[in-house]
Amino acid sequence: MKKKLSITLSIFLITNSLLLADGAKIFKTCAGCHGKNANMSALNKSRKIVDWDEKRIFEALKEYKTGNRNINGGGIMMKHYTKKLSEAELKSVAKYITTLKK
Ligand code: HEC
Repeated sequence: MKKKLSITLSIFLITNSLLLADGAKIFKTCAGCHGKNANMSALNKSRKIVDWDEKRIFEALKEYKTGNRNINGGGIMMKHYTKKLSEAELKSVAKYITTLKK
């Protein structure tokens, strides 16, 4: 169990660094609503995600992708932007957001 976890973690870390560039590219499609530094409330419906950690962002994105998240009536918009992205891409954009200026 522990071994499996650490292998998963290593793969996760390697993938993360390779995908950071993709994350920056993907985030360009998010910046219009969330702000260039992810420090805006998107359409006054979201919180400022720049303070969030990678896991929290990733989990939220996965839920939007499957249509299972809708906090302030904007879930449908987020579904539109996440449904065409793979889990790896969601992870990379989540990672990228954590590198932005607070
Ligand atoms: C058209 C505007 C728009 C775009 C583009 C957009 N978002 Fe959002 N985002 C929203 C809105 C509106 C919400 C609030 C949704 C709700 O009611 O649950 C939201 C919520 C979120 C949340 C959860 C915030 C919270 O307060 O719970 C995250 C994380 C997020 N977006 C990340 C992204 C990422 C990453 C992208 C790019 C892949 C993106 N968004 C693109 C409008 C947008």
